[in-house]
Amino acid sequence: MELNESYWTSRYQNDQTGWDIGYASPAITNFMNQIENKDSKILIPGCGNAYEAKYLWENGFKNVYLLDFSPIPLKKFAEENPEFPKEQLLNFNFFNLTKSFDIIIEQTFFCALNPELRPQYVQKMKALLRPNGILFGLLFNIPLFDDRPPFGGEKSEYEKLFEKEFQIEIMEKCKNSIPERAGNELFFKVSLRS
Ligand SMILES: C[S@@+](CC[C@H](N)C(=O)[O-])C[C@H]1O[C@@H](n2cnc3c(N)ncnc32)[C@H](O)[C@@H]1O
Repeated sequence: MELNESYWTSRYQNDQTGWDIGYASPAITNFMNQIENKDSKILIPGCGNAYEAKYLWENGFKNVYLLDFSPIPLKKFAEENPEFPKEQLLNFNFFNLTKSFDIIIEQTFFCALNPELRPQYVQKMKALLRPNGILFGLLFNIPLFDDRPPFGGEKSEYEKLFEKEFQIEIMEKCKNSIPERAGNELFFKVSLRS
């Protein structure tokens, strides 16, 4: 199964969006509440309906970029948030992105990619981060599926993967997961090695 743009777009067209929690993830908003620099350039890759972006925008972060393969959630976001700059909505493959960011937010994007791409995900994140930049967010800490998304994983595997390129600052059981994911997620934060 090729996890390309048509695959994801058909998931949206057929309302097969079980990943969509319908509101901004508390683990992400709580973390962002501690970021003082509202000018931080932020990326949410594989953003889907991007409730976190709406939260960030309403809380003063104006330099937020959303990226998704599928035009459907981006179009919906643009309609619901007409003041959000259209040029900050990116509709192409994450691996073709060439900008740089201070903060990149992960939520159910990593688990949507074929696991063979995980080393490339790490390399791409490294390339996209500015020198003091961070990547943070949530990763599933359960096996899940082997042949279709969401693909699972566990802490030791993620540690091995990220420590090749990053300083792992946090990789721990998430304390404020949404009820449906409680106990099954890790909260992580990594930064570039100096
Ligand atoms: C499981 S959904 C998660 C959406 C959102 N993060 C959420 O939590 O609701 C994965 C998203 O990543 C997007 N996606 C998958 N592979 C991508 C890629 N290579 N480049 C850009 N977007 C991608 C899909 O279109 C889909 O919207």
